[in-house]
Amino acid sequence: MKGSGARAQWASRLGFILAAAGSAIGLGNIWKFPYITGQNGGGAFVLVYLVCILLVGLPIMMAELHIGRRGQRDAVGCFAVLEKKRTRWRFIGWLGVCSSFLLLSFYAVVAGWSFDYVLQAASGGFQGRSAEEINALFGQLVSSPAQVVFWQGSFLVATVGIVIGGVRGGIERWSKILMPLLFLLLLLLFLRGMLSPGARAGLEFMFWPDFAKLTPTALLDALGHAFFTLSLGAATMITYGSYLDQKADLLSLSVRITLLDIMVALLAGLAIFPVVFAAGLEPNSGPGLVFQTIPIVFSTMPFGSVLAVLFFLLLSFAALSSSISMLEVSVSYLVDEKGWGRGASTLLLGGAAFVVGIPSALSFNRLAEFTPFFGQTFFDFVNALVSSYLLPLGGFFVAVYAGWFWKGSRRQDALDGGKDRPWLYPVWHVLIKYVAPGAVALVLLNQIGWFRP
Ligand code: PFF
Repeated sequence: MKGSGARAQWASRLGFILAAAGSAIGLGNIWKFPYITGQNGGGAFVLVYLVCILLVGLPIMMAELHIGRRGQRDAVGCFAVLEKKRTRWRFIGWLGVCSSFLLLSFYAVVAGWSFDYVLQAASGGFQGRSAEEINALFGQLVSSPAQVVFWQGSFLVATVGIVIGGVRGGIERWSKILMPLLFLLLLLLFLRGMLSPGARAGLEFMFWPDFAKLTPTALLDALGHAFFTLSLGAATMITYGSYLDQKADLLSLSVRITLLDIMVALLAGLAIFPVVFAAGLEPNSGPGLVFQTIPIVFSTMPFGSVLAVLFFLLLSFAALSSSISMLEVSVSYLVDEKGWGRGASTLLLGGAAFVVGIPSALSFNRLAEFTPFFGQTFFDFVNALVSSYLLPLGGFFVAVYAGWFWKGSRRQDALDGGKDRPWLYPVWHVLIKYVAPGAVALVLLNQIGWFRP
């Protein structure tokens, strides 16, 4: 291996869980999950999403961590270690490096809006305004190229600032600060939701399954989102797994990360929907839900400014603990494979993500009419490319590799860290070999229009 010195490891099990859960918990949970649940009619969608997470997401997460832990290198290097001669498998690592880098480039744009909203809320910008005025604030923000690019850059500076500190001193340390804060803020907002007059309507909307509302695309949305929300298919879990030691119990770690992720998504929904219903608004407003609907709701509440600041801080923390995992994938590639220093790698890749992300930031203003990408803006195109194709594809190849080709995956004790769980390997193996790749293949075929009449 190139690169110098002993490779970093997580300082503690809790540190790893918080970092990996931090990667999983992000805009996906607080921004996207509530709005796609809203668009797909609530309860039944939530149920399908949970089933997808357990049957497809969890086994793939275990496989990614397993690959990383065994390889003890960056995502590309892991496959070089595991498959010495069969170099073709390295493309899975490459795919992950490219996907997580591209993802970072546009994720920073949305996360940047959230930074801006913290300031707007703190300066009382939403109080005493009408719903139209608040809606217009979002429009003003995204239509200003200078403002979006400034916030996108600021968010990346924060991301680089953490990753440059290394696995223990940066990622783990900051995850231990950001995640408890995030849980605390979320709990507050959840209680606020439960005390609001819309609590009952919110609970019913999220947990009362009405299968009549379930369309085939809802099924596929749920499966696609299971990947996004668990950070699968972009080699983040391979990379984070590579800083684990060989004794780690992958089942219990993956279950904890997954449960935390599910819990945050559900709590976010239960913080948001009750107040939306109480205000007499609709839950299906789409991507604008947290940036437009939520400030409207808070603007009329006692202590609304404080709650709005807390909400957007929560969103910013969640985004940051995810973006650091995206950057770490390509940083670890340069460090492990090319022998670069961490500082130089982080600065270079952070800067590159900024440049590549600029067209995404400008897609809401200067480049809004520039749609040569199948009629989409650059932002919409890259977002769809990564979320709908590259992540599921990455997860598919990990499942196929671990289920069908990787001999090392057959070690029973590897999955449970030496605990005696004879049922574990057979169950995992069926899921990773048949269920997960089958389900992902369905999603991908649907994306390319296979099932459309
Ligand atoms: N899981 C993150 C979220 O829900 O916002 C998004 C994400 C992070 C996806 C890292 C993929 C990834 F590799």
